[in-house]
Parts: sequence; structure tokens; C-alpha cells
Amino acid sequence: MREYEIRTHVDVLEKEELSATELALLEAAIKATETSYSPYSHFQVGAALCLKSGEIIMGSNQENAAYPVACCAERTALFWCGANRANEVITHIAIAAQTEGRYTPSPIAPCGMCRQALLEVEHKQGSPIVVLLYGEEGIHRIESVKALMPLTFNSDNLNI
Ligand code: THU
Repeated sequence: MREYEIRTHVDVLEKEELSATELALLEAAIKATETSYSPYSHFQVGAALCLKSGEIIMGSNQENAAYPVACCAERTALFWCGANRANEVITHIAIAAQTEGRYTPSPIAPCGMCRQALLEVEHKQGSPIVVLLYGEEGIHRIESVKALMPLTFNSDNLNI
């Protein structure tokens, strides 16, 4: 038998330890929770993307009476970016969530579908998207989307 281990490194930080760019992005993700349309889950998620140009793109989860139609905050921001800033490089994504008027004590991480969507962009652009996850009790920073989802399926597997 052969085996290998996969480790994911997570930095746990206070706001004061973030760079000015990262702090601004995190604040944008926190702010974006306010635009969430979540009458079913009452779980307000905000995502903010930082582009290499310095521009910040915000998104929030958008739900629907037909539940599966909903779109997570991460993909709302990502797909807007794909449609409107097609060739821009994304350097960071920040994610925050609040429910019942309280930001989550621990960070929430993107769902599997959003990880796959983010991975596509990271793979295509050939440079990492740093992930910042906001929790009241600490901010988690992960070096890339691939680090969050190490055994990937991507266009290389299709020989494209
Ligand atoms: N949600 C997100 O927007 N992002 C995540 O990372 C996790 C979940 C949304 C989907 C749904 O509208 C609500 O949160 C509850 O699952």
C-alpha cells in the first residue's frame, strides 16, 4: 500500500493582523451580507472579490421559493465578475455571514459547489485566490482555493 497525506494550512488572525487591502475586502464581505435575499434560511452571506486592479466586487446569497434555484454569495460575486470583468485576475475572496443579527462566531467556508466554481477561475488564471473567512472569534486565511479542495477535477482532466 502507498499513501499520502494532504494538509491545509490555516492562519487564524485578528483584524489588526490583516493588510489594509485584506481588511478593506473583509469589511466589504461583511457589508455585502446586508444585501442578502434570504427569506427562507435567514442566513445572510456576503462575499467580496479583490481584483488585481484593486477593484472590489461584492455578492450575496439570493434565494428563491423554489429552493434549489438559490445562488450562494460566492457564486453571485464570481459570476458577476465573469460576466463583467472577464479577463481580470482575482487575488482574494472574503466571506462573512450573519444570522439573527449576529455574525457567525466561527467562519463559514464556501460550499462544495462554490469551491468548484472558484477553482475553475483559479486554475484558468494560473494564480492563487487567497481565501479570507470572517468569524467574530477569528479570521481564517487560506493560501488558495486548491488548498480548500486539494483533490480537484479540472479542465486538465478533460485534456482541454
Ligand atoms: N450560502 C452561501 O451563500 N454561501 C456559503 O458558503 C454557504 C451557504 C447560502 C446558501 C443559502 O442561501 C444559505 O446560505 C443557507 O444555506
